Amino acid sequence: QSPEPCVMVIFGATGDLTHRKLLPALYNLALEHPLPAGFSVVAFARRPYNDEIFRKQALDSINEFSRQKPVNEQVWESFSNGLFYLQSDFHEPEGYEKLAALLNRLDQERGTSGNRIFYLSTPPSQYPTIIQNLGAAGLNRNRKGWTRIIVEKPFGHDLPSARELNRQIGKVFKEEQIYRIDHYLGKETVQNILVFRLANGIFEPIWNRRYIDQVQITVAENIGIEGRGGYYEESGAIRDMIQNHMLQLLTLVAMEPPIAFDANAVRDEKVKVLHALQPLSGREALQNTVRAQYGPGYVGGHQVPGYQSENGVQPGSNTETYVAMKLFIDNWRWAGVPFYLRTGKHLPKRVTEIAIQFKQPPLMIFKQNESQGQVEPNVLTLRIQPDEGISLKFGAKVPGTDQQIRSVNMDFFYGSSFVREQPEAYERLLLDSMLGDSTLFTRRDEVEAAWTFVQGILDAWKNESPATIHTYESGTWGPQGADEFIWRDGFRWRRP
Ligand code: BG6
Repeated sequence: QSPEPCVMVIFGATGDLTHRKLLPALYNLALEHPLPAGFSVVAFARRPYNDEIFRKQALDSINEFSRQKPVNEQVWESFSNGLFYLQSDFHEPEGYEKLAALLNRLDQERGTSGNRIFYLSTPPSQYPTIIQNLGAAGLNRNRKGWTRIIVEKPFGHDLPSARELNRQIGKVFKEEQIYRIDHYLGKETVQNILVFRLANGIFEPIWNRRYIDQVQITVAENIGIEGRGGYYEESGAIRDMIQNHMLQLLTLVAMEPPIAFDANAVRDEKVKVLHALQPLSGREALQNTVRAQYGPGYVGGHQVPGYQSENGVQPGSNTETYVAMKLFIDNWRWAGVPFYLRTGKHLPKRVTEIAIQFKQPPLMIFKQNESQGQVEPNVLTLRIQPDEGISLKFGAKVPGTDQQIRSVNMDFFYGSSFVREQPEAYERLLLDSMLGDSTLFTRRDEVEAAWTFVQGILDAWKNESPATIHTYESGTWGPQGADEFIWRDGFRWRRP
């Protein structure tokens, strides 16, 4: 499906996100899914650039970050003709007047028919100014075509600020015009969670508390904070990863089947999961979470500094770079099943996976001796990245005259089952925003429900004195405290 001709206005277009993700994604769309004829980008930013400099920078981004190399001269030629630069401060009303004039010109010259997407890719502190100015300039709607706005994360810093941001955007744009990005939803393997569950007859009947013992969701990263000390100090792992990406993964695993695969039906069900989360606050929040910070160590054979020595980090900082937590979903399907979430920076490797551990058979008639150990439970693992795939672990008889059982895997790998390369998350999301499909974007109530849950933990952490922040050596799987945390329940963390 090809979208209607449109213009994407990127606020903060000289920043890192535009450079690494947005321009390469738009170029890939131009290359593969033919973007509509006349598709244009207006970069709205403060630096004294012009069209030519911006086009040169765009080419550098694509050369460096596009998954399609080398650059196709013909596609680049026509894509770059649609790139424009508008220099302005975000608070200057004249900038928005110039923008309106440029957009009208593009409608005439490039046939974009009044269809506009505004992309907020600035530091969040600029969002209110931009939104207000767009409204004041009358750019929030137009009679000729459609107008949409994409809002990057972080969406708020806590529950009150997320509510306030929703209120500010809601004054200027209608909910159906607003696209809140969580790039995890654009990942192929994340979209496959629902397909796996709901397009196959055999899994859904066992997808519940009767058969499932526990669920572990891991988002491990081997990178550190990558020079983003200023941002990270204000954020920490819970805001950076749990409030958005990990709770999104959780909702997809736990939601009820929607009545249709459309934006509201899907999001209605996701919101219900967030509402059903057993609130964590006060002592319970402290008992059910473990936070930690990386110390120095070795990752991938390289020596790395501890968090406290990173640029932009306050001496004695309490910011967590690792969180492990246990939560429960109080609904009919999941009552009593623990969900363990874990994320951290400077862990041994980059891996995101969802592991569903099933209950053991009611009676084990195969006796194992002590050296053989216990028969392991079945585990279904959805590997989100890298080595994308799905695997099911089950017990099999080791060939021989004795009765020995060992775990084996049944595997599906994207790489060997499908020849097509996976698009980048942003390609799918940008295309959907042009098509007007908000299924893979978060709705107002969804973002607030996620923050409501996280806020209880944030408050408990803030009030804990002294704060219990464990440390872990970079390049290890996190603090010992996190291991003890899960051992208490008779489980252990997976080592993906
Ligand atoms: C971002 C976080 O949202 O997601 C980063 O701000 C994190 O800290 C990144 O590294 C992880 O995304 P991905 O796609 O590499 O798993």
